[in-house]
Amino acid sequence: MCGIVGFVGSEPAAPILLDGLERLEYRGYDSAGVAVLSPEGRLQIEKCKGRLAVLRQKLEEQPPMTGCAGIGHTRWATHGEPNDINSHPHVSENGRVAIVHNGIIENYVEIKEFLLHKGVRFRSDTDSEVVAQLLEYYFTAGADIMDAVYQVLERIDGSYALGILCADAPDRFIAARKDAPLLLGYGDGCSFIASDVTAIIRHTRDVSYMEDGEVAVLTKDGIAVYDRLRRPIEKEHHLVDWDVSAAEKGGYAHFMLKEIMEQPEAVRQTVAPRLQGGRVVFEELSLSPAYIKGLSRIFIIACGSSYHVGMLGKYNLEKLMRIPVEVCLASEFRYSDPLIGPDTLAIVISQSGETLDTMAALREAKKRGSHILSIVNVVGSSIARESDDVLYTWAGPEIAVATTKAYSTQLVLLDMLGLYMADILGRVPAEEYAAIVTALEALPDKMGAVLSDVESYQYLASQYFNHDCVFYIGRNLDYALGLEGSLKLKEISYIHSESYAAGELKHGTISLIETGTLVVALATYAPLFDKAVSNIVEVKARGADVVALTTESQRDRMEKIAPNVLTIPDTHPILQPSLGVIPLQLFAYYIALQRGCDIDKPKNLAKSVTVE
Ligand code: F6R
Repeated sequence: MCGIVGFVGSEPAAPILLDGLERLEYRGYDSAGVAVLSPEGRLQIEKCKGRLAVLRQKLEEQPPMTGCAGIGHTRWATHGEPNDINSHPHVSENGRVAIVHNGIIENYVEIKEFLLHKGVRFRSDTDSEVVAQLLEYYFTAGADIMDAVYQVLERIDGSYALGILCADAPDRFIAARKDAPLLLGYGDGCSFIASDVTAIIRHTRDVSYMEDGEVAVLTKDGIAVYDRLRRPIEKEHHLVDWDVSAAEKGGYAHFMLKEIMEQPEAVRQTVAPRLQGGRVVFEELSLSPAYIKGLSRIFIIACGSSYHVGMLGKYNLEKLMRIPVEVCLASEFRYSDPLIGPDTLAIVISQSGETLDTMAALREAKKRGSHILSIVNVVGSSIARESDDVLYTWAGPEIAVATTKAYSTQLVLLDMLGLYMADILGRVPAEEYAAIVTALEALPDKMGAVLSDVESYQYLASQYFNHDCVFYIGRNLDYALGLEGSLKLKEISYIHSESYAAGELKHGTISLIETGTLVVALATYAPLFDKAVSNIVEVKARGADVVALTTESQRDRMEKIAPNVLTIPDTHPILQPSLGVIPLQLFAYYIALQRGCDIDKPKNLAKSVTVE
């Protein structure tokens, strides 16, 4: 999704803006631009469709921008096609006000008509341009720029993170936020805004998170923040403890491969501090045993891969806790008039903590009295801040658009939460509890073992990279695991794939299986191994090529049935998908590599989906 960075200080802003935008590339974008206020008080704008390299090239071909205050943007098109004109920053007609905007101005048509009626000429097809034009309208009507900003915010509906540069207010710029992430960075003799901390972490780790309705004025000497009634407010400062190198490739060809390889360590970081003396401990949780005992139902709410974690969680939490668990796509949940209330726990899962649909679903659940427990990776993100309880995954920054280590850490944390609550309910026998804890302790090393040999995945990818249709089949946990395997494949390799509950195949979809169709058959869930075998036989009889994934203990049996067998170490059945997902990630990665795809930045996708 769109990215914003802004800088004011004593050195030229343009290189800092470009560097920040480069670090936001992973979020997905189709055009980019910067606006800098020249020392003579003129706004200099450069923007264009395409990669940042194109923008860099354009900037190199002209006299350097020397101004020390500026705003930059990477755009992921929503209103208006990706082209040079629709790129941000947008400038008002008289060229005195420039803005960058993330979010959607929902009433832009009405405002545009109002301004057109006043004779204002628009250049772009975007919703965002109305902000620049409306600012100029109020500003020239006699307001000072801050008055104009407050008048505009009063008038616009929708979501926004805004960076505003005004030629008549030199040495500063203004930021505003509602329902779109924006943070403030406090540097030494300089100040920043960013939609994502990775954009500025090289310059400062001292940040504040803007809240809805807040407006900030940034100068090189500091940042003043005001609430919606324009009263000054003191912001809490946070120290970002992410390692800068964690957001760099460190010798790997792609961030995705690096993040796949980081999974054992990421899972260790998530698990180890929460295992004490053979017990699962969540010091950060406020949930009381009485509340857990009074629960009638649990909702897990999320999007995409986080939703797939929820699908696995449903099986595991129900098995452990014997409480009904519903897994909901956030985009559906929010409009479904959900049957949720004080005796239901809402577990909200989000890597970014900024997914708009998930955020809206959280608010819906909260409004209906549900306790919100979120599982989030990005510290201080909007979802984390609006939750009653947060469990952080501590996976470090995830840069590749396709999630891997965030998924794995979410999954293990959800399993641990299930075990913790089941224990409070008195529903896990002591030996079972101890067996799961032992398996949790051994999990990072077992993940490392799966990752120690990637050659079989490279080989299989070389055999199947030119297929145009792949099915993933499995039962129970393997079915939920297949959903993630299939998503990984389609999002980075652009191969059409489907994930099916293996038993459901014969109710329609098996008609698509023919000679040469690739079926990835998941048979890691020990209790249903024999059923999985029957399904493999079924698809083979229709001519399918089968790649089977099972556990080491079942290798011999599987090799008698499937031509290609991948194995993972055995672990407790509840944790088996934490190992099973790794071959699926690697398979998707190497297939995409063979196909020459842009693995870290797949087409049309964005890392943090902050629009509906
Ligand atoms: C797929 C992927 C997405 C996200 C989804 C939710 O690889 O990354 O499907 O899982 O957009 O994002 P978060 O977890 O940030 O809410």
